[in-house]
Amino acid sequence: MEYVLETQELTKIYDGMPVVDSVTLRIGQGDIYGFVGKNGAGKTTFIRTVLGLTKPSGGSFSFFDGMELQQAGKKIGSLIESPALYRNMTARQNLELYCTALGVDKKYVDEILDIIKLKDTGKKKAKDFSLGMKQRLGIGMALIGDPELLILDEPINGLDPMGIVEIRELILEMKNRGKTVFISSHFLGELEKIATRYGIIASGRLVEEISAGELKKICTARTIIRTDDPQKAKRVIEAHLKTDAVEEGKDSVTINMPLEDIGELTNKLFTEGITVKGISNDDNSAEEYFIKRMEGK
Ligand SMILES: Nc1ncnc2c1ncn2[C@@H]1O[C@H](COP(=O)(O)OP(=O)(O)OP(=O)(O)O)[C@@H](O)[C@H]1O
Ligand SMILES: [Mg+2]
Repeated sequence: MEYVLETQELTKIYDGMPVVDSVTLRIGQGDIYGFVGKNGAGKTTFIRTVLGLTKPSGGSFSFFDGMELQQAGKKIGSLIESPALYRNMTARQNLELYCTALGVDKKYVDEILDIIKLKDTGKKKAKDFSLGMKQRLGIGMALIGDPELLILDEPINGLDPMGIVEIRELILEMKNRGKTVFISSHFLGELEKIATRYGIIASGRLVEEISAGELKKICTARTIIRTDDPQKAKRVIEAHLKTDAVEEGKDSVTINMPLEDIGELTNKLFTEGITVKGISNDDNSAEEYFIKRMEGK
C-alpha cells in the first residue's frame, strides 16, 4: 500500500479565515504520525474534516490508495478530544453498544477490554471512571472493528504520567499489530518516544514534515560543553573549526556537532588552558526545533 491517508491542498474556511490551509500530506502504512501544532493551529479541524464531520472548503483527501471516506470508514477508528461515552453504562456495555451501531461482531470486546486494561472494571459505570479510564475506553471504542488506521486527537490530554505511559504502550502495541496511527498532541517529549514521522501545523498550514530519523540527526548534532570560561571557549572553538556558529551561554557553549566528534576539540580546549566541566547532548533541541517551527520560524 502506498498510503493510508493522503490530502491534497485540503482547506477548511471558517468565517472567511482558512483554519486548515492547503494541507498536502501523506501518511504511510505503519507510521505513527505525530501531528504537532499550537492551540488553535487547526489540528482538530483537520481531523474532523478527514473524518467527514465537517465539509472541506477546498482540496481533497482519500484513504488506502484512493478510497473515499464512505468506503474506507470501517477501516478507520477515531477518538476526537474527549470520547463520547454513555455515562450510565459499563465499559463492556459501551463497547458492545458501539459494536452493534457499527454492525461489528462483539467477539472482540474481550480482547479490546484486555488491551485497554479495563477488564476488571465490572459493573462500574463510565461516569465513575477516572479521566485516564475514560480516555482508554475512548481508544477502545476507536479499536472496534479492528481498524487499519487509528486517528487520535490529543489522546493523552489531562492524563497523569502513568496514564500517559499506558496510552504510549497501547499505541506501540497497535503499531506492532501493523496499524497506522495518526496522533495529534502538544506533548512533544511524549510524541518523540513513539512517532516515526511528524507534521507540524502552524496557522492552518503544514509548515514541515520530518521523519523521526531526520529529527534525531538534527538534534543529536548539537553538543553542550560546560566550561568556566565560555567566552574564551567560544573564541578558541570558532578559530579551530573556522565557524562563527558557537552559541555562548552563562557557563557553557553549544556547538552544532555530534557528541562523538568532540574528542579532538576537548584536547584543543585543554591545551588552551580551558577547563571542560562536562559534555552532553543538547536534549532540548527537539523541543526547541518544534517550537520554532510551530511559531512559523
Ligand atoms: N466550528 C467552528 N466555527 C468557527 N471557527 C472554528 C470552528 N472550529 C474551529 N474553529 C477555529 O479554527 C481554529 C483552529 O481550531 P482547532 O480546534 O482546529 O485547533 P487545534 O489545533 O485543534 O487546537 P487545540 O490544540 O487547542 O485543540 C481556531 O481558531 C478555532 O477557533
Ligand atoms: Mg484540538
